[in-house]
Amino acid sequence: MGGLISIREGLGKRERYETLLPQVRALVADESDLTANLGNILSALHMTFRFHWTGLYRVVGDELVLGPFQGPVACTRIARGRGVCGTAWVEKRMINVPDVEAFPGHIACSALSRSELVTPIRDERGAVRAVLDIDSELPDFFDAVDESMLAEVVRIIENLRGW
Ligand code: SME
Repeated sequence: MGGLISIREGLGKRERYETLLPQVRALVADESDLTANLGNILSALHMTFRFHWTGLYRVVGDELVLGPFQGPVACTRIARGRGVCGTAWVEKRMINVPDVEAFPGHIACSALSRSELVTPIRDERGAVRAVLDIDSELPDFFDAVDESMLAEVVRIIENLRGW
């Protein structure tokens, strides 16, 4: 994956995250523009792990609105409490869905998505201001390593300037 991020071939999943995280911190350290930093973080994740879809929805009033992302075209607006993203927002917790077809109310933006992991992104007072949504074409893809490492990525995102 050209130049700015470098991950050796042959590493396991945890090692890839552990190699990626400091590089992501360095990538955003000297830049204050939120859109630029979000785009690069999402690209680094998407390209490293070959996810199906990697992106953000921002809380705007009573809806989630599509933000920066990598992958196929997606639904632009999700009502509060709807789908995996809307549920993670309302319940203020990470939701790991091993089989999207078994999740009541799952919103199928892409027929290829089989499992997904959604993590709330909070402001300084703890209110959810966005969610990080990652989708895989494989069922049961996300495990405890993804959960803890993506929680770290979300901490980096929460600490970006310009929200
Ligand atoms: N599947 C999500 C909607 C967003 S897309 O997958 C990009 C959901 O149920 O919230």
